[in-house]
Amino acid sequence: MKHNPFLITGYKSPDYFCNRILEAERLENAIENQRNMTLISSRRMGKTGLIMHVFGQFSKHSDYIPVYFDIMGTTGFDEFAEVFCNAVLQTVPKTESAWKGFLKKLAAIRASLGFDPLTGEPRISLDIRNEKEVELSLDLLFNFIAKKKKFFVVAIDEFQQIATYKQKNVEAILRSYVQKVRNISFIFSGSKKHMLSEMFSQPSRPFFNSTEMMFLDVINQNDYFEFIQSHFSKSGKHIDDEALASIADYTSLHTFYVQFLCNRLFSAFKKVTDKEVKETIRTILNENQPIYASYLNLLTTNQYKTLRAIALERIVENPTSGKFLSMHHLGAASSVSQAVSSLIGKEFIHDDSGLLSVQDKFFAQWIRSK
Ligand SMILES: Nc1ncnc2c1ncn2[C@@H]1O[C@H](COP(=O)(O)OP(=O)(O)O)[C@@H](O)[C@H]1O
Ligand SMILES: [Mg+2]
Repeated sequence: MKHNPFLITGYKSPDYFCNRILEAERLENAIENQRNMTLISSRRMGKTGLIMHVFGQFSKHSDYIPVYFDIMGTTGFDEFAEVFCNAVLQTVPKTESAWKGFLKKLAAIRASLGFDPLTGEPRISLDIRNEKEVELSLDLLFNFIAKKKKFFVVAIDEFQQIATYKQKNVEAILRSYVQKVRNISFIFSGSKKHMLSEMFSQPSRPFFNSTEMMFLDVINQNDYFEFIQSHFSKSGKHIDDEALASIADYTSLHTFYVQFLCNRLFSAFKKVTDKEVKETIRTILNENQPIYASYLNLLTTNQYKTLRAIALERIVENPTSGKFLSMHHLGAASSVSQAVSSLIGKEFIHDDSGLLSVQDKFFAQWIRSK
């Protein structure tokens, strides 16, 4: 079966990855020169994809060992240590003796090997009983890395999650290893811009000035159009210019939404014009209708009115300007600015250096069409 070239999860190979040439070069350069990097963008813009893309290059490079883990679902430093441990396990040769050796190193924290019920992949569970043991587990892991001859590149995705941990010294502890272990560099990646920027740019914070920052923006429009067109034509399909413009309009070129829409168009049509794009958008909005309706339950009237006004304008620079308030019948500036803060907090709205837009591009279209 021929697969769809527009991926909506994960990373496959450079063939299905559009552009990001400069970003990949910057990341590679940082890795090769032992600079830590902080990678920030709104959700679903392509941070994880970029890391995987660059790691794909580095895994061919015998001097480097890429380690990736996502801490999104973790609730504390003990779970962080366990996820980290499992990511390091991936780098251990898949032989019984190598694994036994690794487990033996972690014996002090009662590591046990089991299997993931979903994937069948081996998984290590740690029985960490207190904060001291958390530090012990990190000690063991970083020592394991420090003893290796190769260079480790450790990507910690959704890094903003550590701000939700009960333990407040996570940053300081991690920072001490970042400084101590020589053969390791880090990529910290995440989506809550404000939170991450503060972590790395406030003098009082342990990671102050210690990493190079990279903000990931939308992919260049011409490059994206070319990418889409070439994948259609490679499969004997056609998409016209008007359809591409329409895709850009509905998605604001936000990577995930472009991919999702193209995936659907590719699977349903041989020839795509503006008509097919509109039809597909209608289908997607209909499918998501129950979800969007439940989103609305999370909002106060004031928040909804503000969200709607931003969806209609698409990008808003000054939500408390008299013009914006009166055009959308929004009432007092103070209540709108409160609504904006809550909407950002609930991740309905993305704040890109003061430019506000609705995070979910299809939801924005649904609001506009109501
Ligand atoms: N450069 C790219 N070209 C094509 N698809 C991409 C690209 N970057 C990301 N994607 C796709 O877009 C979606 C969102 O990307 P992801 O890397 O998960 O975003 P983030 O980590 O910023 O939330 C994924 O389905 C991914 O496959
Ligand atoms: Mg991601």
